[in-house]
Amino acid sequence: MENSLSPASITSNLETRFIGQRVIYYPRLASTMEVAKREAQQGATEGTVVIADEQTAGKGRLKRVWLSPKGNIALSIILHPSVAHLPSLIMLASLAVVHSIEAVTGLKSQIKSPNDVLINGRKVCGILIESEVQGNIVNYAIIGIGINVNLRLADFPEIRLTATSLSDELGRSASCLSVVRYLLVDMERLYLALRAGESIYEEWRDNLVTLGRMVRVESGKTTYEGVAESVAKDGSLLLRHSDGSLTKIVTGDAILRN
Ligand code: BTN
Repeated sequence: MENSLSPASITSNLETRFIGQRVIYYPRLASTMEVAKREAQQGATEGTVVIADEQTAGKGRLKRVWLSPKGNIALSIILHPSVAHLPSLIMLASLAVVHSIEAVTGLKSQIKSPNDVLINGRKVCGILIESEVQGNIVNYAIIGIGINVNLRLADFPEIRLTATSLSDELGRSASCLSVVRYLLVDMERLYLALRAGESIYEEWRDNLVTLGRMVRVESGKTTYEGVAESVAKDGSLLLRHSDGSLTKIVTGDAILRN
């Protein structure tokens, strides 16, 4: 299986205008987020991708660690969106991941709001978005995407029950390169659609696994329970409690209940 993520293999005949036209590649790196941040602060062009075969200190959300040994995808993309488009970046990234997984492997995945992509209820991808905003100006936004492509979950007991990988689902290895190339093309298509005033919210909402399900949401120090009734265009979740009341949760980690 071809798993080289060299810049030439990614950019060769890549059908994008700017996303992935500049690739900074490391065989081994602490975290692509840190390098992408430094690049962005030094004025990197929009669409620059930082990618590593292996991360030694991958960053997850809420200060968690993200495991990314060789054979998987760890990349960060630098964008310069308008402030109005910032909340849509997570929709764009998660939809592009769903599309890429299906196009390359035929596997169906679903989005668990806010930042996860699942296959058969287990996490296959995590997304981390960091941005620097001054007033109404977004200096940069960085979309970090980690996809478990060839991770043998049997080797990682700590996440074996909650995570999966493309290879575990398929019963054979999968091509990181094919997924990365499709992902970059699809991200640019969605990003250009967004910039042209189109909405990607409806498709994102229709791919959510959360809606209509009983969930527990941890938001800061507060835990909410209820049925995930709907999501707003800014990505926030509307939770219906057993007493009929409704809470709007802007950021939080949803845990699906049976
Ligand atoms: C999460 O689910 O908590 C988000 C995980 C994000 C992981 C990706 S891998 C590429 C990029 N570099 C990092 O250090 N983190 C993100």
